[in-house]
Amino acid sequence: MKKAIVIYSSKRGSTQQYAEWIAEDLSKDCECTLTSYKDIKAYNLYEYDLIVYGGWIRGSGIVDFDNLSKQLEPELLSKMIIFGCGIANETPNNYMQVWSLNVGKIDPHNECKSILYILGGRYDPEKVTGFDKALMKVCKKVLTSGKVDSATEEANQMLDRIENGCNLVSQDNLKSLLKDCRKVLDK
Ligand SMILES: Cc1cc2nc3c(=O)[nH]c(=O)nc-3n(C[C@H](O)[C@H](O)[C@H](O)COP(=O)(O)O)c2cc1C
Repeated sequence: MKKAIVIYSSKRGSTQQYAEWIAEDLSKDCECTLTSYKDIKAYNLYEYDLIVYGGWIRGSGIVDFDNLSKQLEPELLSKMIIFGCGIANETPNNYMQVWSLNVGKIDPHNECKSILYILGGRYDPEKVTGFDKALMKVCKKVLTSGKVDSATEEANQMLDRIENGCNLVSQDNLKSLLKDCRKVLDK
């Protein structure tokens, strides 16, 4: 039986929720392990036919992907599906920004053909504290400063989501990702 591992880094639960849904679905077809990134040392990634990594998006970075990528030889990267969970829409600009700051840093020509998804996350301004809160304040300032074309619908929507919160998490967002997981498993 083929083996898959789903690794997640989540601060407030939405990325974890996606990882749980993915692991539950993949378990129908293969032996699937689910783990938080903080426990990754317990696993040998070379044992798996498919590696799914999901991290929440913070300033366009997929959290903990930079650490994980230190051990990602091409052999591992070529069987990976990566997802970032965030509240910005998956526009071409946002996708390219997230891709280049994460996957693009270790495989700039996408030779390993790893696949990146951006999934809708959840944001509750009441629950964000400390440094994260300060960072969101800066983000709001940039969105309203004129450095970003604040007249665009995207910028206004992002501002609204930061101010009022949003919940974009849905199991329906996983359809294509799960199809791609099965393609990697069938290789
Ligand atoms: C400090 C901070 C920075 C963020 N930066 C981004 C970002 O650059 N792009 C984005 O789409 N979402 C961003 N978000 C939203 C989170 O990615 C979103 O709330 C995500 O669902 C959190 O995942 P979790 O529930 O697994 O912790 C940011 C949130 C915080 C608190």
